[in-house]
Amino acid sequence: MKSITFSMQVILGVASASLYPGQSNLNHTCALQTPYLSCSPQANPNTTDSCCTETYGGLVLATQFWNTYTGLESSGQVLPKDSWTLHGLWPDYCDGSYTQYCDLSRQYDPVPSPNTTTGTPSGKPVPAWKGPDISTFLAPFGKLDLLAYMNKYWINQGAPNPDFWAHEFSKHATCFSTFDLPCYGPSAVPNAEIVDFFETAIAYYRILPTWGWLGAAGIYPSNSTTYSLGKLQGALKDGFGATPYIGCSGPRWNETALGKGSADNGRTVLSEVWYYMHVFGRVQGRQGVPVEAGANGGSVSSCVKVEGGVRYLERSVGSEV
Ligand SMILES: *[C@@H]1O[C@H](CO)[C@@H](O)[C@H](O)[C@H]1NC(C)=O
Ligand SMILES: *[C@@H]1O[C@H](CO)[C@@H](O)[C@H](O)[C@H]1NC(C)=O
Ligand SMILES: *[C@@H]1O[C@H](CO)[C@@H](O)[C@H](O)[C@H]1NC(C)=O
Ligand SMILES: *[C@@H]1O[C@H](CO)[C@@H](O)[C@H](O)[C@H]1NC(C)=O
Ligand SMILES: *[C@@H]1O[C@H](CO)[C@@H](O)[C@H](O)[C@H]1NC(C)=O
Repeated sequence: MKSITFSMQVILGVASASLYPGQSNLNHTCALQTPYLSCSPQANPNTTDSCCTETYGGLVLATQFWNTYTGLESSGQVLPKDSWTLHGLWPDYCDGSYTQYCDLSRQYDPVPSPNTTTGTPSGKPVPAWKGPDISTFLAPFGKLDLLAYMNKYWINQGAPNPDFWAHEFSKHATCFSTFDLPCYGPSAVPNAEIVDFFETAIAYYRILPTWGWLGAAGIYPSNSTTYSLGKLQGALKDGFGATPYIGCSGPRWNETALGKGSADNGRTVLSEVWYYMHVFGRVQGRQGVPVEAGANGGSVSSCVKVEGGVRYLERSVGSEV
């Protein structure tokens, strides 16, 4: 009887969608495995358990937003005072490239973006989720405090918060080897890995206090002052230990009156920070090692480089509490 159950479990493990097809759902407590650093030679799925060391997307990005409004203030969706908001936790490949929507059996994003796995017409279509929103998945776990936290700090713009959480889970979390279904064992509670992902993304967010690190350098939102990219980078490197990617939106510098004629076409409104890390063992273990955003030779910012070119805007009245 026991051995029949055993083989059924193995078959179930094989049948579930997986980044590493054929992986058994047994023995992934990670009690016996040495946790390796992601993107090191030992983080190889052929030789180590990919549930216990991140082997698929080993360059982990903890990302945050600075928005000045949500667009849904009238329904109570507001921004947290004196705090940036959580964007997500992303698994890039070690070379800085990435993939998305890795397991369409866990597609809960009502507005997939892009709408194919590659973002081109040749990719696999990502079907829009029509079921109940992802926040309803948390109720059976009784984690209403988690939900309350998410509604305070994980804020969408222009659409309800749960749509954003679903987007982050289905587009990104399904591409971590350590959030793959076989990792959760033969009697996993449905959606346990979703809750685990939300809690993990929050754990990284909480130790990356962008507001406080900028504030420690005297950098606060102001509609009358401007800042230099170098000063922002210095403040965040002092806090984090490596320079994160800093993203700007808004008009390009040389499209503004002040920047007319300049060759600098960086954008002018501070809006995002992406902290790069390698992680020891499971990303859930929360042991990140800071990595320079420029480590792979890519862009470290989309912002204007001219001194005093960046605006860190105050939020709209009524958009934060
Ligand atoms: C799980 O671990 C046990 C104890 O080490 C071992 O006997 C068994 O073969 C392992 N099963 C799988 C599927 O790896
Ligand atoms: C794992 O093994 C496969 C098959 O031998 C091979 O193609 C692949 O390159 C190996 N992966 C790594 C990261 O070494
Ligand atoms: C994706 O969106 C584009 C642009 O709106 C549309 O033309 C295309 O048909 C969509 N593809 C799928 C698979 O939904
Ligand atoms: C802005 O700068 C870019 C890059 O130097 C240049 O290609 C573009 O023509 C400039 N645009 C304007 C409006 O000056
Ligand atoms: C600051 O400026 C932005 C952009 O113009 C505006 O949306 C926001 O309401 C302003 N905030 C305050 C407090 O004036």
